[in-house]
Amino acid sequence: MGTVKGKAVILTGGAGEIAREVAAQFLAGGAQVLLVDVNEAALQQAVALLGGSSVAYCVADVTSEDDTVAYVRKALETFGRLDVLVANAGVEGLVAPVSEYDTDAFRRLLDINVVGVFLGIKHVFPALAAQGGGSIVITSSVAGVSGSPGLSAYNASKHAVIGLMRSTAKEGGPLNIRVNTVNPSPIEGRMIESLERGSMPDEPAAMRQALIQSIPMGRYGVPADVANLILFLASEESKFLNGGVYMVDGGMTA
Ligand SMILES: NC(=O)c1ccc[n+]([C@@H]2O[C@H](COP(=O)([O-])OP(=O)(O)OC[C@H]3O[C@@H](n4cnc5c(N)ncnc54)[C@H](O)[C@@H]3O)[C@@H](O)[C@H]2O)c1
Repeated sequence: MGTVKGKAVILTGGAGEIAREVAAQFLAGGAQVLLVDVNEAALQQAVALLGGSSVAYCVADVTSEDDTVAYVRKALETFGRLDVLVANAGVEGLVAPVSEYDTDAFRRLLDINVVGVFLGIKHVFPALAAQGGGSIVITSSVAGVSGSPGLSAYNASKHAVIGLMRSTAKEGGPLNIRVNTVNPSPIEGRMIESLERGSMPDEPAAMRQALIQSIPMGRYGVPADVANLILFLASEESKFLNGGVYMVDGGMTA
């Protein structure tokens, strides 16, 4: 998995299903974690479940620059250092043909899934640079390397963060700041169930079967599959990994 002991981590979308497992693994490895999310009730629940003094939370909207400055400041004040940003907050948005996709909804999705990641990187970079380096891991998706009907906004956003990663990986390299993406296939949980219903409202189970058939390993992933990869990319053992797109998809995009 990799060594993360003593690292201070910001995890956006921190109340979500994948993030909870990521946080649990960081804490088990001896790291400190600041969960960042818009959903305060879910944050409180996550902190109560995770327990211990190494986890804190900050209510913030990743699309707000003021909120971004505030969550970075809170991490530095709480932990006295910063080593890792996991830019994981994201929404799936609508499922609709492009000619019917609501334009405001398209813009809003890009604001969360792309501008939110940009703002996190922008404001974390100086803190990591001042400390001699760090690791930024962005949650992209299989939707970042391929398309799906009905998901124009989500696909565009998950492709966009790969471009953002590649550019900032080249800026970060000389500062010992590494930037990579993880690209999960469908992962068991709320988001894929929402997409199954959005794609085939009358037969979500048939959508699930079709998706599973497109994964050579014959199953959806689970949050731990993603968390294992994120922890490795945040760890000392991955210190020469920079600018990479790392699939965690059971072979779906092979
Ligand atoms: N679940 C999957 O199948 C899957 C597959 C590939 C990639 N991903 C990506 O993984 C990431 C996590 O997804 P998840 O499955 O845990 O979903 P989730 O819905 O459980 O978690 C997402 C979290 O992001 C938070 N969030 C939404 N908008 C926000 C905002 N403006 N500011 C701050 N927080 C905000 C939500 O409140 C939620 O807690 C997302 O980026 C998603 O696109 C998920």
